[in-house]
Amino acid sequence: MQNVLEPFRFKIHRVTVSTPKFGQPVHYYHVTDVHAFSTFHDTGAFTKFNRERRDMVNAGERCVFSLGGDEIEGMSRSERQSLMNGNYHSDHFDRLSRDFKNESQTFADDTSYMAGRLLFAVQGNHLGIIRHGKDLWQNSTDYLVQQYNKRRDNGGLRAVNLGGMAMIQLIIDSGGTRLPIVIMAVHGETIGGGRTKGGSINAVVNLRNVAPMCTLYLAGHNHDLQATRAEPIYLSNVKGKFRLASHPQRFIRCGGYRRGYMTDKDNYVAKAHYEPAGIGTPEIVLKPVTHKGRRQIDIAVNGV
Ligand SMILES: [Fe+2]
Repeated sequence: MQNVLEPFRFKIHRVTVSTPKFGQPVHYYHVTDVHAFSTFHDTGAFTKFNRERRDMVNAGERCVFSLGGDEIEGMSRSERQSLMNGNYHSDHFDRLSRDFKNESQTFADDTSYMAGRLLFAVQGNHLGIIRHGKDLWQNSTDYLVQQYNKRRDNGGLRAVNLGGMAMIQLIIDSGGTRLPIVIMAVHGETIGGGRTKGGSINAVVNLRNVAPMCTLYLAGHNHDLQATRAEPIYLSNVKGKFRLASHPQRFIRCGGYRRGYMTDKDNYVAKAHYEPAGIGTPEIVLKPVTHKGRRQIDIAVNGV
């Protein structure tokens, strides 16, 4: 009998980001749960985020982005199911489809500075469904990624939608020195973590059970905004000799732009008395440094 837990077919997505000089920081933003076009979308906060990032990009700072799902409000999973099973007229689908298409295009225009700078996308539970023909459907995250790829200038990164759970090797080529980090990203639909602050972040830390040696673990979904760190010790095998080494890690719930509480508006958050949402996107600064003669990446997480 074979004693194999699971044949390993999960692929890692590799992206290289280069800077001309060693030591130049890379500013990384995992933008999740924007919920654009929801009544509860915080337009002011998201416009400010976009303005500031566009200014940084224009000033020549090295910025990269990824999308964590729920970009537009779209429809939740149960709404999509009831719609698909509900035997609606095709006019109804076409009208929705047109709206989701327009909304995705507006989203891509508002965030056009991300084009060519998008490492990847994972998709959320809120998606628009876009119909291209009688039986041809596309979800809005796929459509959005295509919009960025259409808008990217030559030589920029080509964005991909990696689906529900993604592992990404980000190689920072800092003036010729290649320094890799591994990112695990999920939307987080199934790891909300309950109502406590600890429950929310512990659920992100638990992603280590799937892949213990990533550097960044990123999740959204519950609109919480917090981060924690760890530096586990492991044995590294250097030419047959075991040595102790440690591995810095960050676990981040990446907030969002959907408010929970608004006067006179019916909302699942207020109904269930959930904690008010985190508004914003954490800034992850990846800075190549030389530490005790070794080149490595220092990580700072700001704004949580
Ligand atoms: Fe969300």
